[in-house]
Amino acid sequence: MTGHPLWLRCEKKEFERRAALTPTTAKQLIDAGFDISVERDEQRIFDDAEYEAVGCKIVEHNSWPNAPTTTPIIGLKELPVSDDPLPHTHIQFAHCYKNQAGWSKVLSRFHRGGGSLYDLEFLNDDKGRRVAAFGFHAGFAGAAAGALALAAQKKGEKLGLLEPYPNEQAMVTDVKARLGGSGKGTKALVIGALGRCGRGAVDLFRKIGLEEDDIVKWDMAETAKGGPFPEILDVDIFVNCIYLSSSIPPFLTHESIRAAGQTRKLSVVVDVSCDTTNPYNPIPIYSINTTFSEPTVPVELGPEVPPLSVISIDHLPTLLPREASEQFSADLLPSLLELPNRKQARVWVEAEQLFQEKLAEAAKVEGL
Ligand SMILES: NC(=O)c1ccc[n+]([C@@H]2O[C@H](COP(=O)([O-])OP(=O)(O)OC[C@H]3O[C@@H](n4cnc5c(N)ncnc54)[C@H](O)[C@@H]3O)[C@@H](O)[C@H]2O)c1
Repeated sequence: MTGHPLWLRCEKKEFERRAALTPTTAKQLIDAGFDISVERDEQRIFDDAEYEAVGCKIVEHNSWPNAPTTTPIIGLKELPVSDDPLPHTHIQFAHCYKNQAGWSKVLSRFHRGGGSLYDLEFLNDDKGRRVAAFGFHAGFAGAAAGALALAAQKKGEKLGLLEPYPNEQAMVTDVKARLGGSGKGTKALVIGALGRCGRGAVDLFRKIGLEEDDIVKWDMAETAKGGPFPEILDVDIFVNCIYLSSSIPPFLTHESIRAAGQTRKLSVVVDVSCDTTNPYNPIPIYSINTTFSEPTVPVELGPEVPPLSVISIDHLPTLLPREASEQFSADLLPSLLELPNRKQARVWVEAEQLFQEKLAEAAKVEGL
């Protein structure tokens, strides 16, 4: 191999079917002079053969520790917890820059191995915006889950296990079928509708057949008056997609919901933003994150009021692994094309600087 090396590792996190590189983006990188190695991975939504067909070299599952240390390793989620030193350059979400549990231990592995971390959450364009994020499909999948919960609730049932769909069309078809053929007649309100997640939620509602007038789209201007908002109680599904950055009055409270009594239309709240444990959570009507196996949690409202459930899953894009990966990887591609020039290319230089800052903090904490 003589091109620029890049190694797609397998994902070790349970249920994670997404990939940082797809056969589409791998092909574009190969056309630009990259040599791409792809680890065999049965849980990835893309078959190994799809990568092989575009010219990737297929290598053993989880074999990246044996790759030349000059080969950058790309993946999505955290590496399994270990004390092993990390000598490679890793491109991934590492969740260790915001003092998360165990952050300094993770970084100490790079310190001991001499490797680098380029965290995907902190790769920014020249305006400071993320170059690649999964928001759109989080909103899309969240809205779909909300519609499924509504369909179940209408039958007096509780929404059961959610499983990743092979593609968007399969999701749309299933949601429409469970709503009796179409979402027409359902009313939804999306707050944060101008953002990535919000646009995805609106797109799903359109695709399952809601009338445009029945998709109420709010962003900063509409919430400026301050909540709680009685308008939320007049739709079937409320999807919260805001990026919470400061204390704001709640959008909904137990009291505002109870006050509507039997007249409330609202049946399902989907909290895509999932600021569940944030003291400023604008939806303080539930306190846990829900899961694919238990997607909803009931809001405790007492007797004689219609049921209300909340979906607060914090990894929604996993429900649409193919499209979510394709979009994320396509957005990442321009930066990946600059990887061979990473000592000069702004996006990588800034990522390296941030890594060095965090590494120094971790070294101090760990006494290295
Ligand atoms: N649950 C999941 O799986 C999942 C996945 C990805 C992102 N997220 C979360 O979703 C949230 C939104 O992410 P994004 O990428 O869409 O962000 P974004 O910045 O693209 O969009 C956020 C939108 O919220 C609006 N907003 C902010 N405060 C508001 C307010 N008080 N009232 C009304 N609108 C307001 C902004 O104007 C913007 O349009 C983030 O908290 C993110 O962490 C969750």
